[in-house]
Amino acid sequence: MAFTIAIDGPAAAGKGTIGRALSRHFGFAHLDTGLLYRATGRRVLTGLDPVEAAQSLRAEDLEADDLRTPDVSQAASRVAAIPEVRQALLDFQRAFARRAGGAVLDGRDIGTVICPEAEVKLFVTASDEERARRRHKELSDGGHTATLDEVMDDLRQRDARDSARAAAPLKPAEDALRLDTSEMTIDQAVAAAVAEVDRAKARL
Ligand code: DC
Repeated sequence: MAFTIAIDGPAAAGKGTIGRALSRHFGFAHLDTGLLYRATGRRVLTGLDPVEAAQSLRAEDLEADDLRTPDVSQAASRVAAIPEVRQALLDFQRAFARRAGGAVLDGRDIGTVICPEAEVKLFVTASDEERARRRHKELSDGGHTATLDEVMDDLRQRDARDSARAAAPLKPAEDALRLDTSEMTIDQAVAAAVAEVDRAKARL
């Protein structure tokens, strides 16, 4: 049976962490849709046309090890504003969302555009400072050297661009549960998300 959990929100708010935890807890497949835009952006940095890059994306492009760098993040946000790029990535995401056995997708437009009929919608946020601190730690742990200020600039620029674009902008679906994780531990945020999914399952 298909059951979709849509997780949206600004960059580095905890969507991926919550998404992975939910997928483990419920045995659902998980798709980090940001990877599709990151992999497309990365290919554009090597000289490809954005729409062609999105149309010819392969599974191994999603496994490149430099998809989290600030350059690739910015390129991802830029290509994500192009309607034809979003269109090229749409069918794959929709099919993933409705696969049998359940799916968790995290991104910017999952609850609004990709899967408006999702059984659960979460809109995950955190303060700019907290998001920058978390992403900076993640990058440092991975051996990258960006400063906290650079990380903060990257997040703010992308959020502004991702929210202002005409095509599938970052915004909460009307029926999304808002989860501000600024003051929450990972365990608390995951517990709140699990409780919301349990409530939705009980309603089925
Ligand atoms: O989730 P992320 O930070 O890895 O996403 C990278 C960029 O991709 C983000 O700045 C905007 C874009 N994106 C999008 O437009 N729609 C999605 N569903 C996921 C990501």
